[in-house]
Amino acid sequence: MSDYQHVLVEREGAVGRVTLNRPQVLNALSPALVAELSDALRSLDADPAVGAAVLTGGDRVFAAGADIQDMAERGAVEQLLRDQTGRWAAVTAFAKPLVAAVNGYALGGGCELALMCDLIVAGDSARFGQPEINLGIIPGAGGTQRWPRTVGKYVAMEVMLLGTHISAQRAYQLGLVNRVVPAEVTVRVAMEIAAQLAAKAPLAARLAKESINRSLETSLSEGLAHERKSFYFLFASEDQKEGMRAFLEKRRPEFKGR
Ligand code: CAA
Repeated sequence: MSDYQHVLVEREGAVGRVTLNRPQVLNALSPALVAELSDALRSLDADPAVGAAVLTGGDRVFAAGADIQDMAERGAVEQLLRDQTGRWAAVTAFAKPLVAAVNGYALGGGCELALMCDLIVAGDSARFGQPEINLGIIPGAGGTQRWPRTVGKYVAMEVMLLGTHISAQRAYQLGLVNRVVPAEVTVRVAMEIAAQLAAKAPLAARLAKESINRSLETSLSEGLAHERKSFYFLFASEDQKEGMRAFLEKRRPEFKGR
């Protein structure tokens, strides 16, 4: 779709796909790659023909983390001023459903990138981990926050203090991934799930995603108030009328995202 150097962007029907594309360094997440990824996601978010997206590193590796070559000699002030990981915010700002298709290593920032997605399909080769401790740093793109909220304190401690890798099967048992599939079909399965997501009512999907993410950041009463407002708001949409009428008329709804 665009002439990016570090990511590939494609569209199949209503599903966009962004593939991280620096295979020679296991898709290490350089600032240039993150800038292109952010730009690609913003474009897909703005494209009314796109209902959902898949983020993948392809068949071999998801991403082995932030680019160590790029970071090795940086100073603290420089890191603060260039806001290395703050610049990943376009991923969490993506308002449509985003499915990660993870094969091979998802380490460090690569794992954090997967955890920013809404659903995760893992190939049986997938390995999740936060090995930053071995580099003398800690995760900086959400790892210390999203892991414990997802799998609890003790697994998070193990992963971040020992640098333990978690297999696809264990990730599934821990509730970190939605599906484990043979590696050769990971991207395909993620695309199929994304197509199903894209066929749902777009405004409802957007507000459900927002509400679920809000639940991780707020009190129950505030979260419930937010949910209720979103619920009532949807009664102003054409899709709510269409969805309920279609149910009563025993036909398939045709959602327009309006
Ligand atoms: N940054 C830059 N380059 C990387 C990289 C990274 N994160 N991970 C791998 N590469 C490069 C290697 O340097 C190597 O390049 P050369 O061929 O030029 O030497 C190439 O990718 C292939 O890697 P390996 O030869 O190491 O492959 P392997 O199969 O033997 O090992 C691996 C694979 C276990 C993933 C190993 O590459 C590794 O440990 N990588 C680093 C993982 C890591 O520490 N990630 C955390 C980064 S910090 C971070 O992400 C901070 C944050 O929270 C934002």
